[in-house]
Amino acid sequence: MFKNFQLIVLGLLSFVASAFSQTPVYLDVNKPIENRVEDALSRMTLKEKVAMIHAQSKFSSAGVPRLGIPENWMSDGPHGIRQEVLWDEWNGADWTNDSCTAFPALTCLSATWNPEMSALYGKSIGEEARYRNKNVLLGPGVNIYRTPLNGRNFEYFGEDPYLTSQMVVPYIKGVQSNGVASCVKHYVLNNQEKWRGHINVIVNDRAFHEIYLAPFKAAVQKGGCWAIMGSYNQYKHQHCCHNQYTINQILKHDWDFDGVVISDWGGVHNTEQAIHNGLDMEFGTGTNGMNLGKKNAYNYYYLANPYLKLIKEEKVGTTELNDKVRRVLRLVFRTTMSKNRPLGSFGTKEHAMAGREIAQEGIVLLQNNSLKKTGKILPVDLNKIKNILVVGENAVKRMTIGGGSSSLKAKYEISPLEGIKDLVGNKAKITYAPGYQSPTHAEQDKVGAKAPKQKKISPEILRAEAVTAAKDADVVLYIGGLNKNSFQDSEGSDRTTMDLPYDQNKLISALIEANPRLAVIILSGNAVSMPWVNKVPAILEAWYDGTEAGNAIASILFGEINPSGKLPFTFPVKLQDNGAIALNAYPGDSINEEYKEGIFVGYRWADKENIEPLFAFGHGLSYTTFKYGKPTADKKTMTIDGTITFTVNVKNTGNRKGKEVVQLYISDLKSTLPRPVKELKGFKKIELAPDEEKTVSITINKDALSYYNDIKQEWVAEPGKFIALIGSSSRNIKGKVPFELK
Ligand code: GLC
Repeated sequence: MFKNFQLIVLGLLSFVASAFSQTPVYLDVNKPIENRVEDALSRMTLKEKVAMIHAQSKFSSAGVPRLGIPENWMSDGPHGIRQEVLWDEWNGADWTNDSCTAFPALTCLSATWNPEMSALYGKSIGEEARYRNKNVLLGPGVNIYRTPLNGRNFEYFGEDPYLTSQMVVPYIKGVQSNGVASCVKHYVLNNQEKWRGHINVIVNDRAFHEIYLAPFKAAVQKGGCWAIMGSYNQYKHQHCCHNQYTINQILKHDWDFDGVVISDWGGVHNTEQAIHNGLDMEFGTGTNGMNLGKKNAYNYYYLANPYLKLIKEEKVGTTELNDKVRRVLRLVFRTTMSKNRPLGSFGTKEHAMAGREIAQEGIVLLQNNSLKKTGKILPVDLNKIKNILVVGENAVKRMTIGGGSSSLKAKYEISPLEGIKDLVGNKAKITYAPGYQSPTHAEQDKVGAKAPKQKKISPEILRAEAVTAAKDADVVLYIGGLNKNSFQDSEGSDRTTMDLPYDQNKLISALIEANPRLAVIILSGNAVSMPWVNKVPAILEAWYDGTEAGNAIASILFGEINPSGKLPFTFPVKLQDNGAIALNAYPGDSINEEYKEGIFVGYRWADKENIEPLFAFGHGLSYTTFKYGKPTADKKTMTIDGTITFTVNVKNTGNRKGKEVVQLYISDLKSTLPRPVKELKGFKKIELAPDEEKTVSITINKDALSYYNDIKQEWVAEPGKFIALIGSSSRNIKGKVPFELK
């Protein structure tokens, strides 16, 4: 009631103000946004309002030409600005000025565990969106990594809600500093691609709040994101693009979200629900407009003519419509019509170097064992190594295309082989053998694109050729992994196995027999099984690194950069070690899917079931070594409204500069409801020169001790005993500090 009164007063004030001022309030960038919203709303006709809340083309919605209010232009995706597509098609428009910087995939950003890299990423990609005149970036995605099979895990931040929350906030702020809205997606419970369009997810309230909603809550309340994308799947049998519980109740009421809820493309199924359940903009719907043969007849969208008709027949009022339009107008005044809006930049060296820096900080050194005779093979020492064999199709394959809507038309992409050749120069001989072959993909979005023809060579021949070449190499660099083909890291299809495709395991095992001096570099956005792990001395997870991939990977392999990435998700030994898989709670029965593992996702499951992972959440090695002192706390007892600070000394005991991520996990020793053994609640990345020592302090408050009590339906921190665990990974705990909450 009071809110309506406020709005009436605002409306009157802005009307009075505009009556006397020269510039209409909505056009005056110096006026408060809410006044501009009310003024613009008061000037719009019913038709103009309805036109504004649904698509007019594949990626745009109408403005108000009569009032000089511009259209809204959306663009994928989380890793770079998608090429311009035809007005009404997914296909590319073949422009010559839209080849972008491809930034690393978000699993790589997350693996940096460095919020400064997120800020750099968001600012840079926001500048590219701004330059391309897109005022909504359809990203980042923050869906939690629930199984190693989800095709889109490479687009997200991993298995932990705290890490995801800490890393997504600076990204959002960076994007929005350019006057471009970050549209955080896919809200919510879109944790698989199989049956994504309709699967009805059943999840208990604890897991819902503690695991799956948490990153979106941080995006809204800490990141201040101006847009949220509803997801395709259902929750409580309502599609999440128009869902009373997730949008009206949680997002708009509980979290006080004042931005725009945008549907996923084709995610709207019902006009009534779209009107009443909080959807503000409808995109890409396969409405009856399409089925009636009118190609993408945007006026047939659920929030188009059908809505207008209901209003004209007085079957619905305009209260919901005005709220939707207010939110779209707020988006406009925050972006295209905002004050001092930056101009952006596109495809610059600066952006390419930003991507390279992020990749160099995100690449994870998983293993680096010494060989008896030759010691560690990484970093490769070019004073000794004179004959390098590079094996694997991923050493040359373009990775910025494919994978679905995050695919990009990159200005350029340095392949790992190119990066290695550039760095090595004439210091060593480099030979290349593909080792295996995968089906090529057609250019994403290219009209009539065909996958390039390639000569089919038998796997046996390719394998034999690589193994023969390996025998007399000083070192073998195997570069494989996944490649964004369907049923790998790709939108629209989940993986059916955790194994590497194209018989790579057979090839790797053959290579290690031929030459023990083998490093395996995996390009992927998902965990993969490694049956050869005990034989291969060196293993890197190098992610999908975008435009500067090859230079980033080479700089790590040859030691120009000391790796400092940490895993944002668990690498299980086998698929059955994953909770959802073990409980047969994935992919559901094609109608419903119950997340039976509840809050025990990722390392929370491994800890609960005492399962040793292949590589743990938070794991990552360095070319130097770090020694941790005994962690301490500034107090033994913390009060509910107080804080507690944990301190630990870290020393670089190796002979080269390096970065380390000090991680803080909290264990609640006694709680009314079951809790994970420990949960990540703090981390700090530091850089240390050889012999340098730093004191790292991490302060927490009651939020770090709280869990969602689904009986009381609220977050609670229960007094009692806790333990703080400080470590360099979730499984490499360096020290524990008991404390009490009074
Ligand atoms: C896709 C994706 C979403 C993307 C949108 C537009 O289906 O789910 O992430 O932004 O449609 O391409």
